[in-house]
Parts: sequence; structure tokens; C-alpha cells
Amino acid sequence: MIQDIPNINDISDFLQEQTGWQLWPVKGLLEAEDYFYLLSHRYFPVATFVSSNTDIDFSQLPDLWHDIFGHIPLLFSPIYSNFLQNLGNQYITIKDVNDKDIEQEIVRLFWYTIEAGVCDEKGKLRVYGASQLSSIKEIKYALSDRQIKYPFKLENVINLTVEIDRVQDRLFEIPSFEYLRVIQDDFDSYIASISYGMLRKQQ
Ligand SMILES: [Fe+2]
Repeated sequence: MIQDIPNINDISDFLQEQTGWQLWPVKGLLEAEDYFYLLSHRYFPVATFVSSNTDIDFSQLPDLWHDIFGHIPLLFSPIYSNFLQNLGNQYITIKDVNDKDIEQEIVRLFWYTIEAGVCDEKGKLRVYGASQLSSIKEIKYALSDRQIKYPFKLENVINLTVEIDRVQDRLFEIPSFEYLRVIQDDFDSYIASISYGMLRKQQ
């Protein structure tokens, strides 16, 4: 059977109809500020190019395959898409108080959930991180018996440096996909307390 390659406009129209999200074509990596700004407005940036076949197992940079197959199906889940939009909102809130450390913490939370996240589903390990979903090497490694999965603890995640140039050997497992809501609430409270404190200091 012949299949067309994904058409970004068609996918975007369908996605908008179903979820309110739209795709935003990009030619390369965006600055974090621009990326999170788009997320906060329910636009998902999608690379318009495909990586070289030498990177078929693993690529440190997102391409069309990564964005379309790794992220877009999950946008149909309100839990995932609200979590993602909220990260965008949190980044913008923190940008206003200009705290680089907290910006990094948001990037790390994004990374260890949206990009490199695993969860339990009725006793089975599932992958929802787009880095794993779009890479044969990453997904095999994530689902292997190797000791690379750790229980998700917000304070550990937001303090762990992100290294995008290699297969992830530290993944944080959430007890269920729905647990993203708990993380969202906890991180919201944390961001609210920080931004309130910062704004008070500036007065
Ligand atoms: Fe991604």
C-alpha cells in the first residue's frame, strides 16, 4: 500500500479541529523562549526536514519524524497537551522575572517528561517521551532491563543536567500517565511561589 508522507498543513488542520492545537513549521532548533511561547499558545513547532539515514537509530536533533510521530499523537491526550501548554505558560511567567536557573528547571522538566519520559500502566512500563518514541535505539534501551529507570521526584528532575547528545541512561518513571497532572499542579505551586517572591524582591 502506498502512503503519502505527512503533510504538515493537513495534519495541522485535523489537529486543530480535534484538539485546538496547530503545527508551526520550523527549519531548525528554536530558542527556548520562542519554543515555549508557541507551546503556551497551543502551537507545536514541527521540523520540516528529515535527518540523514546515518542518524536513523539515534539523532540528537529533532526532525519531522521525531516531531510528527513522537509528539503529535500524544497531543490528542488532554493530560499531555495541557501539561505541555502549561510548561509554556510557566516559562513565560518566569521569563518576566528573569531567573535563568528557573528557566533551566523548566527545560529539564520538559526534557524528563515530554522528551524522555516513561510511565507505569497497570504494571507495564510504557514510553511517552518523544526521544524514545522516535528512535529505535532509544526505545529499546528504555524498555530493556538495564537500571536506568528511577521513580519520578520533581526535585531530582529539575536539578539534573540534560545531555541531548547520547542515548538517555537516566529516565524517570511516573506511576501513571495521569500523574502528569500531579506534576503540573506541584510545579505550578513552585513557580507561583518563586515568581511571587521575585516580584516582591524587585519592589
Ligand atoms: Fe521533541
